[in-house]
Amino acid sequence: MFRLAMATHRDWPALCPDDAPLVPLLRDRGIEATPICWDDPDTEWQKYDAVLIRSVWDYYLRFDEFMAWFDLLDRLRVPCWNPSPLCRWNARKTYLRDMAAKGVRIVPTHWVSSQERIDLRRLMEERRWTEVVIKPVVSAAGDRTHRIPLTEVTNGQRILDQISPHNEIMIQPFVKDVLDAGEWSLIYLGGRYSHAVLKRPAQGEFRVQEEHGGETHATTPPIMLIRSADEIAHQIPFDWLYARIDGFEDQQTGEFILAELEALEPLLFLSYADHSHERFADAIALKLLQHL
Ligand SMILES: Nc1ncnc2c1ncn2[C@@H]1O[C@H](COP(=O)(O)OP(=O)(O)O)[C@@H](O)[C@H]1O
Ligand SMILES: [Mg+2]
Repeated sequence: MFRLAMATHRDWPALCPDDAPLVPLLRDRGIEATPICWDDPDTEWQKYDAVLIRSVWDYYLRFDEFMAWFDLLDRLRVPCWNPSPLCRWNARKTYLRDMAAKGVRIVPTHWVSSQERIDLRRLMEERRWTEVVIKPVVSAAGDRTHRIPLTEVTNGQRILDQISPHNEIMIQPFVKDVLDAGEWSLIYLGGRYSHAVLKRPAQGEFRVQEEHGGETHATTPPIMLIRSADEIAHQIPFDWLYARIDGFEDQQTGEFILAELEALEPLLFLSYADHSHERFADAIALKLLQHL
């Protein structure tokens, strides 16, 4: 049997419910998949043929330790999927800058380094942004993510001054579409489009995550949106097995506006589409086969 470690974290030691059905499907394909917390000190990773990164969702709180874990896997020559160089690149939202440089349309972003002091009012006036979102470059699940209208800029400045000395920050215009049209997630498995969901925030919230009361629905995207997301997927500068492309639909052109490219530990919403667990299990098996 091929031995696959499925990396998770302490809150979901037996994988999250969306990933758990993969285990028996992988077994059917001759792959013994074992959920293991990424920080488990007793695991001898070299005993596994490969590591599949899944619900390692505390990584952003223990960033240096987590990055060191990839160094360990590399040293032990244990292959992981997605590959460690892609995971390292994708763990900081600065990857969006690289995608923009390749011509991908992203949500406009002002990048703030950790030592820099920003005058938020001046920035908002210069960029003509009447409302912004402030968030750290290393973050997940909407953590330390704030929506600030110009009328509350003093409060925004205070928040910025609090987070900024310890973090690189991103400041973006608030994309209103998130409230009604919603945020898309297009899921790619084995290099191709698999399925999509649309996420909307709870009343009075702007973060769409279920942790913040958001709702997720399986939705079929218009083909223009898939084509546009395909182009983004093709620009990922590493070999990859899975990816989730998050963003907004330009209401005029139907084009995808990239908010996040999730290639490290995305929830893949497999439970929202028929046969997507089987598709992912097949893609994993094929990838392992190519690397045997
Ligand atoms: N510029 C923005 N405009 C509107 N909503 C945003 C913006 N940036 C983030 N959000 C909201 O905050 C959530 C979390 O931000 P996101 O960039 O997806 O980071 P992460 O998912 O890693 O926490 C998004 O899903 C969205 O609901
Ligand atoms: Mg997100």
